[in-house]
Amino acid sequence: MEDGIYRPEILLVEDDEIMRVTVSDHLRKKGWTVTVAEDGVIGMEQLKKKDFDIVICDIRLPKKNGMELLREAKETSSQAEFIMMTAHGTIGDAVEAMRLGARDYITKPFHVDELVIRVKKIIEHHVLLAKYELLKESVEERYSYQNIIGRSKKMQAIFNVIEKVSRIDTNVIILGESGTGKGLVANVIHMMSSRRDRPFVKVNCAALPGTLLESELFGHEKGAFTGAIRKKSGKFELADRGTIFFDEIGDIPPFVQAKLLRVLQEHEFERVGGEETIKVDVRLVSATKEDLENLVANGKFREDLYFRLKVISIHLPPLRERKEDIPFLVEEFLKRFNKKLKKNLTLSNEAVKCLMSYDYPGNVRELENIIERTAAMTDSDVIMPKDILHSFDKNIRIYSDKEEENLTLKELLTRIEREHLIKVLAETDGNKVEAARILGISRKNLWEKLKVYHLLK
Ligand SMILES: Nc1ncnc2c1ncn2[C@@H]1O[C@H](COP(=O)(O)OP(=O)(O)OP(=O)(O)O)[C@@H](O)[C@H]1O
Ligand SMILES: [Mg+2]
Repeated sequence: MEDGIYRPEILLVEDDEIMRVTVSDHLRKKGWTVTVAEDGVIGMEQLKKKDFDIVICDIRLPKKNGMELLREAKETSSQAEFIMMTAHGTIGDAVEAMRLGARDYITKPFHVDELVIRVKKIIEHHVLLAKYELLKESVEERYSYQNIIGRSKKMQAIFNVIEKVSRIDTNVIILGESGTGKGLVANVIHMMSSRRDRPFVKVNCAALPGTLLESELFGHEKGAFTGAIRKKSGKFELADRGTIFFDEIGDIPPFVQAKLLRVLQEHEFERVGGEETIKVDVRLVSATKEDLENLVANGKFREDLYFRLKVISIHLPPLRERKEDIPFLVEEFLKRFNKKLKKNLTLSNEAVKCLMSYDYPGNVRELENIIERTAAMTDSDVIMPKDILHSFDKNIRIYSDKEEENLTLKELLTRIEREHLIKVLAETDGNKVEAARILGISRKNLWEKLKVYHLLK
């Protein structure tokens, strides 16, 4: 085999038997697949049967000559590249063949190695093309990976990690604030893995109290506890040979943590109230918005379990740290809601800028909600900042870990000032002269405030 990427299928059309056998043997020794035909009609039949990459074709052939074969092949839009074998002194044939779309010609008599060089040239060309296509694909794909959209460096790096961890079978933990896409990433990791045809089972650890969570995960035997009227399989059994996704894993109570650790180490467990040991093969992907290290430090989360879970960790950055992703996300969401609402809305540039000026404490989910609400409420075809404002209204809040009642007066006033600035800017479609007039401050003052609040674009 000459090149790992491209293994060409060759058709050799030659009526002279000695020539046919010598050439085909030689080409096969190079690791290429060679089919032979002894006249033009058989050659054409072969071409219709199979997608050849290269056709090496004599010109003088019985029944149908090489030139006709070439013409017919090109008419049926065959992708095959032709190398014509012309007799000495018939250079006119060669010219005609090239005009008809042959890639190359070789004059008889020739040394087989010379033919090999010509074949290799075509292969190299195809390998380059194939590489280019691959490259192009990977560049295009990088605006998004599966359903995950992200143009920022931070997201690009995450796509790379996801791609790698999908191929291996280790446990992964996904960290990030609420709405950053942890659930989405967990799903993609499963879909890209070799387990994709097996179940993806989700467990929301925060939704159930400890004892219920235990039976939800491991199942129970009939009569294991009050209310256990029949035997039930747990999620681990359902997820066998697939992926189990633990959402909000920080909320698992200690006794369930211990049982979980055993599954991770020994791949086995017993149902609640059961004796039988059940073996499973699952991959564990977990997610949390909490600081697990902190929970470990405070004794709320087992350190040994934590190390098992975080073999690989993916940290999804908050949206405000990758604002360049906003236009791409918005485009996708708008496309989705346009389809759903049977509308044809577009966004004005000012509207995009307005969307980019906001900090999104609720991250991508909040942005998605804002677009949905805006799309539903807007009557005109082009979305303007004031349309977004309607949707912003209920959301607007500068990012702060504190709840309103715990703010100092200064923090509260700052928050109100910032929100009001955003509102007025939106109302004036970003016109700073007009905004300054409404706010009763100088343009310079407005500019300074915009800078302080990171509202400058
Ligand atoms: N990069 C992204 N591209 C496209 N859609 C995204 C992206 N990130 C998040 N979303 C969408 O935003 C919404 C919230 O994402 P998801 O539920 O995965 O967040 P999460 O981190 O699991 O949040 P929570 O901690 O609240 O459960 C989903 O509808 C998801 O499809
Ligand atoms: Mg989630």
